[in-house]
Amino acid sequence: MIVRRPGQIKAAITAVGGYVPDTRLTNHDLEKMVDTTDEWIKSRTGIEARRILKDPKKATSYLAIKACENLIEKTQLDPKTIDMVILATITPDLQVSSTAPYVASQIGATNAFAFDLQAACSGFLYALSVAAGKIAAGHYKKVLVIGADKMSSIVDYKDRTTCIIFGDGGGVALMEPSDNEYGWEDEYFRSDGKGSDYLNMKAGGSLHPTSTSTLEKGWHYLYQDGKNVFKYAVSAMADVGTEIMKRNQLTNKDLKFLVPHQANQRIIEATAKRMGLEEEKVLMNISDYGNTTAATLPLLLHDFEADLKKGDKLVLAAFGGGFTWGAALITWAYN
Ligand code: UT7
Repeated sequence: MIVRRPGQIKAAITAVGGYVPDTRLTNHDLEKMVDTTDEWIKSRTGIEARRILKDPKKATSYLAIKACENLIEKTQLDPKTIDMVILATITPDLQVSSTAPYVASQIGATNAFAFDLQAACSGFLYALSVAAGKIAAGHYKKVLVIGADKMSSIVDYKDRTTCIIFGDGGGVALMEPSDNEYGWEDEYFRSDGKGSDYLNMKAGGSLHPTSTSTLEKGWHYLYQDGKNVFKYAVSAMADVGTEIMKRNQLTNKDLKFLVPHQANQRIIEATAKRMGLEEEKVLMNISDYGNTTAATLPLLLHDFEADLKKGDKLVLAAFGGGFTWGAALITWAYN
């Protein structure tokens, strides 16, 4: 639980932006590629389409830059005033070097320092926490927190267990010291290394460097033991979501929205049910985007920005590879 000294700075999200590519890969398209059906995908995941960044010359940085440009255009923010950029991603443009410095340079954030953060589907939430801490410490004043993934670059479009789920996208939030009493209230984050068996991309790291053998085995594609990940995801997200509400003495009536990672509609509904939340309190856009990994949460905030009002209590919750998971309580700080 975050304990603040009187007068201590509180960080708040003050603007959001987002971008998804125009190309829609529908369930009907996938029916022609793997042994699946629109009906199976819809009923098991809630997904109808996902967005794909088709141009092979464009990578995750493109999604991140477009999302940031959207935010900058909306707010007329001078990029030179940004002093920190965090990019949450599992699909960096290059293994070395970080993608965030490139993104920062491209958007004109020439006075910022920038780095990548890798926590899979929890990446954006973890990055928000880092930004909130740095702002609360008084070190930085304008931080861009980006979640972006070109999942199509690591998905095997012959594997029906993964290719139906993932899509490409990018979202961003600007964090600043709050100019009212609202903002980042509390966070409860967890991780468990046993998750690496269930959700991984085996090769390309220092354990299994790229070789003919890793290529032949398909180890450069994403692997997921869906059933097990599903099981952990529901109980983990519900546990942290419930805990953060309990320790902040919030009842369901006090909460405006649950902002959950978009992995599977059934996971989201089961999590909300365990937290005792009504359907209308749960934000969802999975049907048109699929699971965009680090981008799901900022894309939700972007898509539903008009529904968020100053003073609204939101619980953001995520679960992803690692395993990594957590929940944060925020009070929305602007109209
Ligand atoms: O974002 C990071 C975290 N990721 C997640 O949270 C994702 C978690 N997992 C899931 O969302 C789900 O487990 C999946 C969507 C991946 C799979 O759904 P499921 O209901 O757990 O299916 P299943 O793996 O239990 O498979 C049920 C059946 C199997 O057939 P049999 O053995 O019952 O004959 C599968 O072979 O469905 C079959 N199946 C498919 N059938 C049609 C698996 N994938 C497909 C498919 N189309 N695409």
